[in-house]
Amino acid sequence: MTAHTADGKKNGDLYRDYIDDRNAKSQDTLYCTSNGAPYPHPYETQRVGENGPLLLQDFHLIDLLSHFDRERIPERVVHAKGSGAHGYYKTTDPLDDLCLADIFQAGKSCPITIRFSTVGGESGSHDCARDPRGFAVKFRTDEGNWDMVANNTPVFFLRDPAKFPHFIHTQKRHPATNLSGGDDSTMFWDYLSQNPESIHQVMVLMGDRGIPDGYRFMHGYSGHTMKLVNKSGNWVYCQFHMKSKQGTKFITQAESASKSPDHSQKDLYYAIERGEYPGWDLCVQTMTPKEAEDLWEKEKTNVFDLTHVWPQKQFPLRKVGEFFLNENVKNYFAEIEQVTFNPSHMVPGIEPSADPVLQSRLFSYPDTHRHRVGTNYQQLPANAPRVPYRMANFQRAGNMAFYNQGARPNYLSSIDPISFRNRSVDLNKTHGHFTGEAITFLSEIRPEDFRFPRTLWEKVFDDGAKERFIGNVSGHMSTCTDKEIIKRQIGIFREVSEDLASRLEKATGVKGYPGISGLRFNGTHNGMAKDKSLRAANGMTIKVGFSATDNNGAPTSGTHKFADGV
Ligand code: HEM
Repeated sequence: MTAHTADGKKNGDLYRDYIDDRNAKSQDTLYCTSNGAPYPHPYETQRVGENGPLLLQDFHLIDLLSHFDRERIPERVVHAKGSGAHGYYKTTDPLDDLCLADIFQAGKSCPITIRFSTVGGESGSHDCARDPRGFAVKFRTDEGNWDMVANNTPVFFLRDPAKFPHFIHTQKRHPATNLSGGDDSTMFWDYLSQNPESIHQVMVLMGDRGIPDGYRFMHGYSGHTMKLVNKSGNWVYCQFHMKSKQGTKFITQAESASKSPDHSQKDLYYAIERGEYPGWDLCVQTMTPKEAEDLWEKEKTNVFDLTHVWPQKQFPLRKVGEFFLNENVKNYFAEIEQVTFNPSHMVPGIEPSADPVLQSRLFSYPDTHRHRVGTNYQQLPANAPRVPYRMANFQRAGNMAFYNQGARPNYLSSIDPISFRNRSVDLNKTHGHFTGEAITFLSEIRPEDFRFPRTLWEKVFDDGAKERFIGNVSGHMSTCTDKEIIKRQIGIFREVSEDLASRLEKATGVKGYPGISGLRFNGTHNGMAKDKSLRAANGMTIKVGFSATDNNGAPTSGTHKFADGV
């Protein structure tokens, strides 16, 4: 603790250091009220006589109860159940030819915190839910925090960001019955059967990779396309992959029933306590802007669409570094519940692409953090940058302002100026070359959206996997109370494979639609509709302001001014 002088010169320098407090032993502390006054026993109350009412002046009791009343902060609106730990990252194979980020230069390393999670459930829900897993890493680099807010699957359910709250609501409790998806899966399948671009993620979720056996045994994927910029200002598109050094392990639906609700938390915590530190390789897949244009023009794979993946044969993985978790938290709330991961926390050299879901996430996360944790969430020890320079800006005050930047000017002062560093990335060059007018946009389902799911069914799943898949889907659909929804979903599965659809018909006893060409969707335009009147999403017409585009949002030939990239 800071020493104080009797002349009062250091009377303003009072606060106890966070690290000192975090690591203090119980035996070295003294019981006090929140204002620091020692108090003899925590269970005492003050009352009138031996059996009379309590006294309002009993600050000790009021201090205790009123703090207790405010102990909870809102849980995350998604990914509420999670586990986390600390560790370190180091660059093993520098990426300086492609990226100027300081953390990717030879010899660089930094502390990290990771939080893994399930997505749909509440904070007390089961770790072994059939659900994607969140995989969020905070890299505390020398140039600021870089957060990789990823999942354990390379694809996602949607590519139009406005669908996200709707989709998530279908996994929350029903407004009237207050039942969750475990008892009633109708809302979930209603959404999926109206938004067929979800099919790739549905194939992964309902297959053998749907329930990871703990967080150590899964890979992580940015899913989104980002950009890497090098020293010359040239750039490439990039996808990040985090490959588990432990390999992957999954459990079946039947096995999941026998596991503890905190299975993944226990597995991670005790592995670290035993000194078995889990590790991952950080890898990139990269492509030039020209290759991205060609990928759409020739193969109809859209790099701005996170229901599509980049073929690894064409765009092989390149290892950059590795990271390990070697330290359990001392205080879960302070270090994991309050940690805030944000895709817009990028560092010089890493830039977002025009993927609309990524773009929306850049806004959504810091917005929810200001609400969930508070205006000054960046000041909390779990979130504060650990940079080798003293950072300054003109953000001041607000709830719980702790580091309020002393007496330094709260505006851009010419009398007492702060310093600036030159831009290391020429944003004018790395921005795309967006020409055209502002438009309304909603994607449409197309034949190419079924290619990857079909490969999974025909080439990746063996007979056992196919059987388990049918069992998982039909089991899940058994609590769907609307047959029409099942008919539609089987129609979507039929576009993946006739074999898949007919097996599902047998398992559910419901005859599905022959495909999607005769269906109209409320969530997406139908680029495969036989009849023109079915093409526009429900509630819209093709006549006025139709919002499907020929390129479905992909970068077409000529999108990039500097298409050769690096
Ligand atoms: C429009 C699409 C999306 C929106 C609006 C959205 C929004 C959110 C919000 C509001 C949270 C809670 C954050 C917090 O309270 O700290 C969250 C958590 C999270 N999201 Fe998303 N999300 C979207 C898509 C995605 C995608 C595509 C991924 C993965 C590729 C993803 C991965 C995560 C992860 C890992 C967390 C948990 C972070 C943690 O552990 O604190 N999200 N998301």
